[in-house]
Amino acid sequence: MTVNVGVVGLGYWGPNLVRVLHELAEAELVAVCDLDTVRLAKIRRRYPAVRCTTSYEDLLADDSIDAVALATPVSTHHPLAMRALKVGKHVFVEKPLAASSAEAEEMIALAGDCDLVLMPGHTFLYSPPVNVVKDLIDSGELGDIYFISTSRVNLGLHQSDVSVLWDLGPHDFSILRYWLEENPEHVSAMARACVVPGTPDVAFVNLAYPSGTVAHVELSWLAPSKLRRTAVVGSEKMVVYDDTSNEPVRIFDSGVSLPDPATFGEYKLTYRTGDIVSPAISAVEPLALELRDFCHSISDGVIPRSGALLGGDVVRTIEVVENHLVKALGAAALR
Ligand SMILES: NC(=O)c1ccc[n+]([C@@H]2O[C@H](COP(=O)([O-])OP(=O)(O)OC[C@H]3O[C@@H](n4cnc5c(N)ncnc54)[C@H](O)[C@@H]3O)[C@@H](O)[C@H]2O)c1
Repeated sequence: MTVNVGVVGLGYWGPNLVRVLHELAEAELVAVCDLDTVRLAKIRRRYPAVRCTTSYEDLLADDSIDAVALATPVSTHHPLAMRALKVGKHVFVEKPLAASSAEAEEMIALAGDCDLVLMPGHTFLYSPPVNVVKDLIDSGELGDIYFISTSRVNLGLHQSDVSVLWDLGPHDFSILRYWLEENPEHVSAMARACVVPGTPDVAFVNLAYPSGTVAHVELSWLAPSKLRRTAVVGSEKMVVYDDTSNEPVRIFDSGVSLPDPATFGEYKLTYRTGDIVSPAISAVEPLALELRDFCHSISDGVIPRSGALLGGDVVRTIEVVENHLVKALGAAALR
């Protein structure tokens, strides 16, 4: 089955959805929609056969369209998705799924009631290096996961409607949710709105999981250089996943153990630094895998890897972190 899709929102990210859907065998890009006619004209020049409209209603009224893909600002995800679900269309919505957990729950419930696919665009769940690390965790090769430390920082782009927590946070919180298959039970955080009052552009988030794993997530739009670096430290091995490197995954056969003491009170740590392995990583584009999964979930009735419940968990995590920040900094600091 080919899924007929309309893309809504042609700003920074939407044209990527348009490009990939246009090339995907499983999808037919039927129409695009944006309130901005200049952005529409740009897409029309490149894809003359695709219908262009400024009216979302036009898209919803078109019975040939099976699904909409929303790449609009976060505050619009809930209203636009709800309207599409109500007229029987499947919905792919860019991360984060919604602007609050109450909104996310309403969307998930409606999609379930209508038997429609609702999929948040957590692109990193389709990233080959992320999946190499997932396999290492699942196979037990890393041992118990002691902690994960991640930095996602660069200069810009400051968003007008959300803080860095809602903009960059969904990437790391979705990866952590996917790798660990659990939600944090304790969070603490600190943030600062350095440039635009009320919109934090740097956040340091700590998370503790029921399994005992702890994580530290550093997010910033204000950094001298771009970092996309995650260290996963296990009881057997350690991994560095660096999305900016040409060796994105490096596995360190390193660790420390505490053997039973030979005599009472005599503890001696044993340090091990073994081989460093850099596995070959597939170069396939994550966005193509993600949108293919969306089409398959519609045609085969299966839950996509980036499922709505996972998207709801990510929104809830961000909300809990934000509530912590409100307590720590006061509501005025966060707008
Ligand atoms: N998966 C990723 O890696 C990734 C990367 C960047 C952005 N995103 C997500 O994509 C979404 C959009 O981000 P962006 O940076 O492209 O935003 P943007 O502001 O650049 O673009 C949004 C577009 O939506 C249009 N729009 C707004 N309301 C509309 C409506 N009611 N009907 C039709 N068009 C409407 C605007 O005119 C604008 O062109 C966000 O949810 C963001 O988090 C995802």
